[in-house]
Amino acid sequence: SRLLFVASEVYPLVKTGGLADVAGSLPTVLADMGLDVRILVPGYGDVLDKVDDAVEIGSFACAGDEVTLLETALPGSGVRTWLLQHPLFSARAGNPYHDAAGQPWADNAQRFMLLSRAAAAIACGDTALGWQAEVLHCNDWHTGPAIALAHERTPRPRTVFTIHNLAHMGMFDRATFERLQLPAHFWSGEGMEFYDQLCFIKGGLSYADWITTVSPTYAREICESPGGMGLEGLLHHRREQLVGILNGIDEAVWNPATDPLLEQNYDSERLDLKQRNKASLLRELGLDDAADIPLFGFVGRLAEQKGVELLLPLLDELLQTPAQLVMLGTGDARLEQALAQLAARHPGRAAVILAYNESLAHRIEAAADVFLMPSLFEPCGLNQMYSLRYGTLPLVRAVGGLADTVTHASEANLAAGTATGFVFEQPDSQALRSVLQQALSLWPDRAAWRRMQRTAMAQDFSWQRSARNYLALYGLEETVE
Ligand code: ADP
Ligand code: GLC
Repeated sequence: SRLLFVASEVYPLVKTGGLADVAGSLPTVLADMGLDVRILVPGYGDVLDKVDDAVEIGSFACAGDEVTLLETALPGSGVRTWLLQHPLFSARAGNPYHDAAGQPWADNAQRFMLLSRAAAAIACGDTALGWQAEVLHCNDWHTGPAIALAHERTPRPRTVFTIHNLAHMGMFDRATFERLQLPAHFWSGEGMEFYDQLCFIKGGLSYADWITTVSPTYAREICESPGGMGLEGLLHHRREQLVGILNGIDEAVWNPATDPLLEQNYDSERLDLKQRNKASLLRELGLDDAADIPLFGFVGRLAEQKGVELLLPLLDELLQTPAQLVMLGTGDARLEQALAQLAARHPGRAAVILAYNESLAHRIEAAADVFLMPSLFEPCGLNQMYSLRYGTLPLVRAVGGLADTVTHASEANLAAGTATGFVFEQPDSQALRSVLQQALSLWPDRAAWRRMQRTAMAQDFSWQRSARNYLALYGLEETVE
């Protein structure tokens, strides 16, 4: 069966967050299961620079814009990947969505409408490529209109739309809607209009045969306020076609036993070796060599979603406990500044790296003792799963995919041997402080800690089961689990 999988980013060609990880690994697993998969992504300037073996396979027109497709094998997996070449993408370096100051590119509506139109054209067989899709699987707001456009056609491919993050809706004004020359009936509450704006994500939500999101808990949260962010009515209405499928992780890329980015590989049988990664990271970052006090790690976008705001008032106190801290991330300028100041107040104890650094992300996962992820909302979250796999106990808020993947170190769970991390409920610093204290007081109990690490590392987050659920939605397997 022919599947066109469309996303605005795909690891390892272009990545700003978890969407790229999923777009890199899910199609790979589906291809291994026998599907004839093509990934379609924009040919951003940086991507074209990275890929040197791409072959031109055809050109076609999208509402007056001439586009060219370049085919390459996705590095690491070999899945056939089509890069959409057009100056709207190729003539610009840097972040796919915004400029250096964090302002969205002014032509984002045109750019992602072009991606959407190309996706619909390929999927519906309007091009001379000699390939069309039986299933069109789109992801997040950038590709919502592709689902709407495909829906206009008969016959048409079956459509699946995955929500990775409802907070990004792709909202533009009415004049933009006019300029894009979309069918007039898309401008309605049942279509793509939302509070008098054009809303790209509604293209997917209103018209897809199946809507999925990336964890069962988030699927429930978005059918209500405030999780639905105003779209709860529509999502509740479509709840029979809405399925939460937990993301898997790429176990080849995120495996402490083989990860080439680590100073020292280890597994649950040789957990004492994990320590060497901590020692070498502390040295590299100029922190005190203090093996016996816990190291807290954070990797992620410094956005409101990630709950850094809850952490900030607690960190001075935490660092005096004593504890050490390493944080890697970029984003909100105010948070960046506050964290840099924090690090300056605690030399030897805290390091803050305001950068995007894939290799450092791996080394933090391996070096830290506790991984902090106090998100306000979290559709799935991959970092907590990477942490579990690396024996780095996640400290998370009980929302979305975090609630579905981490088991709290309650007395009962500790006794039963099922605990894998530290979980708090309320989105306030008090609740977070008490769970931080719980982690600190468990730290000296090395046997209990080690047992939690082993349980964490034994969790199965492979893609196989999730991929089967997608196959069912594609109409290729009997039932959804
Ligand atoms: P989200 O997609 O909301 O950002 P996820 O936990 O699903 O959150 O995925 C985030 C991904 O991006 C992870 O693979 C994480 O390691 C990576 N990441 C985020 N920020 C950085 C950074 N500053 N440097 C390196 N990797 C990062
Ligand atoms: C989004 C979400 C994150 C999820 C990722 C991949 O970026 O914020 O929770 O893990 O997509 O689905």
